Amino acid sequence: MSGDHTLVCDDITRRFGGVVALKNVSMAVRRGEIFGLVGPNGSGKTTLVNAITGFYPPQIGRITLDGRQINGLKPFRIAAMGVARTFQNVALFHGMSVLDNILMGRHIFMKPNPLASFFYPWWARKEEVAHRRHVEEVIDLLQLAPARDEHVDVIPLGLQKRVELARALCAEPKLLVLDEPMAGMNQEEKEYMVRFILDAQEALGLTVLIIEHHMDVVTALCDRVLVLNNGQEIAQGPAREAIADPRVVEAYIGKPRYAA
Ligand SMILES: Nc1ncnc2c1ncn2[C@@H]1O[C@H](COP(=O)(O)OP(=O)(O)OP(=O)(O)O)[C@@H](O)[C@H]1O
Ligand SMILES: [Mg+2]
Repeated sequence: MSGDHTLVCDDITRRFGGVVALKNVSMAVRRGEIFGLVGPNGSGKTTLVNAITGFYPPQIGRITLDGRQINGLKPFRIAAMGVARTFQNVALFHGMSVLDNILMGRHIFMKPNPLASFFYPWWARKEEVAHRRHVEEVIDLLQLAPARDEHVDVIPLGLQKRVELARALCAEPKLLVLDEPMAGMNQEEKEYMVRFILDAQEALGLTVLIIEHHMDVVTALCDRVLVLNNGQEIAQGPAREAIADPRVVEAYIGKPRYAA
């Protein structure tokens, strides 16, 4: 099934002790699309992202990236194969500047070789220049120039989320995985973030998997979605159709997070 698909999850089951966080979940993300993961609190969205990125591999099932099996690989190997992610709770390096945090996204390309650097300082310099060039491109794309020298601890949450996105983009991913990138943002910040994600996807030719619970954002961004409830699929397909499915509406009734 790989051909047109960047990511395929086949029959994924993940338990934590007695809790079945995901049960027989399958999905296929097409190359170049923005695919949404939707569902009420505790429905298994982050667990699926953790399975894909290698943090908590599934006990059952198969995950492939461009046709190559990745479940069973360590997170850094999966990252090196072109999967970059952001976290539901912002995970930046405290005490460091915006620029240094973004530069950390390049670490997967940095292969320390002191001997080579000693004999060929020009080579190390060339590498450094290439890293800087990518970082500057991303800073421009996400309009982070005015904040580049700020400490990440003192900037607003919305900006911290953008820095995290920038760090992920600096890894030059083929698959960008975003876990609630708009959480805690006001309407204006959300609209900016939607724009930045669309711009980045177009400029960098990305495939995007995004967990999102704001339905206006889902319909603005996503080509297709998978809706989970209690660890199982309740709908999958084009965004508008899937979130209008009666089972999805029912799953959200009384749930405060079905926010427009
Ligand atoms: N590391 C873990 N250890 C134990 N249980 C876990 C772990 N991660 C997730 N779970 C459990 O798995 C279920 C699904 O959680 P998950 O975080 O994937 O939900 P979610 O859809 O991301 O929810 P939210 O919208 O609140 O972020 C929950 O019952 C949760 O308690
Ligand atoms: Mg979550």
